Amino acid sequence: MKFFIDTANLNQIREAQDLGVLDGVTTNPSLMAKEGITGRKNILQHYLDICNIVDGDVSAEVVATDFDGIVEEGTELAKLHDQIVVKVPMIKEGVKAIKYFTSKGIKTNCTLVFSAGQALLAAKAGATYVSPFLGRLDDISTDGLNLIEEIRLIYDNYEFETQILAASIRHTMHVINCAKLGADVMTGPLSSIDGLLKHPLTDSGLAKFLEDAKSFI
Ligand code: E4P
Repeated sequence: MKFFIDTANLNQIREAQDLGVLDGVTTNPSLMAKEGITGRKNILQHYLDICNIVDGDVSAEVVATDFDGIVEEGTELAKLHDQIVVKVPMIKEGVKAIKYFTSKGIKTNCTLVFSAGQALLAAKAGATYVSPFLGRLDDISTDGLNLIEEIRLIYDNYEFETQILAASIRHTMHVINCAKLGADVMTGPLSSIDGLLKHPLTDSGLAKFLEDAKSFI
């Protein structure tokens, strides 16, 4: 399972990269705005800065919603760096654009996916990644994990190569459950990765070992 971090914060990306388990980064316009990144030039530079920190794929989202606009914006993003994956919303024009990008060898991440039917369409269009937003489904009392399970089944039935990128991960249990269900990738906040480290028996066990080790000196 690949681990992506879902942030545009360079310090958090560096911290996750330093742990040695980071495979990529996802961003979205809200995460960029949260970091105060505005203006086309600064946004493009910020994507480059992220690519220079991590080795893996970096999703950069288009904001156009018409086919020509998505293609123009996505082509510009893809030219920035070979790690860039063009993130395209699950709308009709987006599906057409994903098909276009696929034909040009440009990697895509189909975002804002909330149903198995949408995931099927994304795979048919050749998306590199599909991003089901499980946390946002949980927020409206719908089982987000069930969607991951459905997509896994459908993709396996037809051997689709589109990778399931479990998105809108909110906590460590989401990560573990997505791993059990066979999601190819998860993207979440730094806390969802850091949380995997923690167990009270590890802490108390280490404290006891260190206490006992004092007698060695
Ligand atoms: C996915 O790529 C999105 O950036 C993200 O996971 C959305 O998460 P949220 O629902 O916590 O905003």
